[in-house]
Formats: sequence, C-alpha cells, structure tokens
Amino acid sequence: MPTDCDAREALRPFEDEGWITEVLYEVKSGKEATVFCCRGGVLSPYPLVAAKVYRPLERRGFRNDAAYLEGRVHLARPGRASRAVRKHTAFGREVQYGTWIAEEWETMQILSEGGVTVPTPLRCGERAILMRFLGDETAPAPLLHEITPSPTRAATLVDQVLRDVELMLDHDCVHGDLSPYNVIACEEQAVIIDFPQAVDPRLNRNACGLLARDIERMCQWASRHGAERRAAEISARLWSRFVRGELG
Ligand SMILES: Nc1ncnc2c1ncn2[C@@H]1O[C@H](COP(=O)(O)OP(=O)(O)OP(=O)(O)O)[C@@H](O)[C@H]1O
Ligand SMILES: [Mg+2]
Repeated sequence: MPTDCDAREALRPFEDEGWITEVLYEVKSGKEATVFCCRGGVLSPYPLVAAKVYRPLERRGFRNDAAYLEGRVHLARPGRASRAVRKHTAFGREVQYGTWIAEEWETMQILSEGGVTVPTPLRCGERAILMRFLGDETAPAPLLHEITPSPTRAATLVDQVLRDVELMLDHDCVHGDLSPYNVIACEEQAVIIDFPQAVDPRLNRNACGLLARDIERMCQWASRHGAERRAAEISARLWSRFVRGELG
C-alpha cells in the first residue's frame, strides 16, 4: 500500500475506470513524482501498470531552469498564464503543474507512436500518468546505472539509446535530462523514461547544448563499461543533420 495518502487518492479514478485494480508497491519516490507498480484492470493491455503520480504543488521542487522553460508550447503564447509562470506566482505554479504533466504525456505519446523505445503510455489524469510497467510483481527492471554489462552489451544498449535520441530529434524532441538514471534496462532493450523537461529544438535555443549533454552522459556510461563512443562528434553530426533537415 502506498504510504502517501494523496498519491493513493490520485489513483482512485483509474481504479474506478478499470485501468488498475490494486497498487502492489511503491517503486520510487523521486524529486517530482512517486512511481507505483499496479495490477492492470480490464482496460489495461498489460498485466502490470506503472503509475507516475506527481507531487502536490507545495511539496514539489520544479525544474524552473530557464533553459527548459524557453519555447514551451503551452507557454509560447503571451498572456496571463505565461506571465504568471515567469513571475512564479501561485497561479503560475498551478499552470506549470498541469503543464509538466501534459507535456510528459504528449511527449510520451508522440515518441511511442514514432517508434522510440519508451514505456507505452496508457492514460493521463490530473495528477498522474499510467504507462506499461517494466519489471515484475516483486521489483522494477533495473536502470542502466544499476547494471554491470559486458562491453558488448553496453555497446548494444548505448547504440540503441543513441538511435532513439536521433529518432526523438526527428520528432522535434530533445530529452534534456537523459542519463543512465533515466533509462531502464529491460531484457535486451534500453527504455527511455522521465520526459517532463523535454524541449522542442525548433523553439528552444538551448536545445543543442541539452542534446550534447544528453549524448555525453550516455557515452560516459558506455565508456565506463568498455564501449567507447565519441560523444562530441556524435552530437555535432546529429545536430547539423537536424538543422539541415536531413533526419528521417
Ligand atoms: N514504466 C516504468 N516501469 C518500471 N519502473 C519505472 C517506470 N517508470 C519509472 N520507473 C521507476 O521509477 C523511477 C522514477 O521515475 P521517473 O524518473 O520517471 O520519476 P522522477 O520523479 O523524475 O524521478 P527522479 O527524480 O529520480 O528522476 C525510475 O527511476 C524507475 O526506477
Ligand atoms: Mg528520473
């Protein structure tokens, strides 16, 4: 049973709708959200469902970094909402709360449909997102940073992530917080998670730097496990192909 009563409350509508039948265990309570492993209900195509419940406003440390906020679709229009977000007013925080959830949901849907390896998104509520759970009834599948792969397996995993980074860019998306902590090693697949801060490289001037950092962190991980990849070259080549419209 989840320890957080608020989070439990946030999952009730999904139980009523038939997406989940019970909460099996809390997977992790992170900076911005708590993830639960739930048993899938009649509506769920999967036996296990992950519920990512966002922290209530007053307990959340938002990623207020201007690098992420620039050019966000929901804030692109001038007006009360975007002014309030920039000034960090109470109304602004409320707008931003809904925005992060909506953006993570939309990003996951677009990427999943585009063939990027992400947990299949199932349902979005006011405070939570449901998606396919990776793992079993006892534990989640490990994160990349938790495994000790052979050089060959490290190479396979990092190359798959780098192909997905390219596919994401082709769908106008830069993850912005990619690291071995946000990639799940599920059997032979590397599954990318945690998208609320993703940016649109057509609208955000920091996208090139964020892309380079994402790639750098993944290549550092691979190097530690004996699979050398040249991060700077990879990101420079990818970015120039994106700018010239050569992806896809
Ligand atoms: N679909 C999933 N299946 C299995 N485990 C998952 C799934 N999604 C998330 N997790 C687990 O929950 C943890 C937190 O998820 P996520 O990174 O999306 O949230 P977060 O609040 O941003 O966490 P953090 O602050 O640690 O980045 C992940 O590290 C992973 O272990
Ligand atoms: Mg995370």
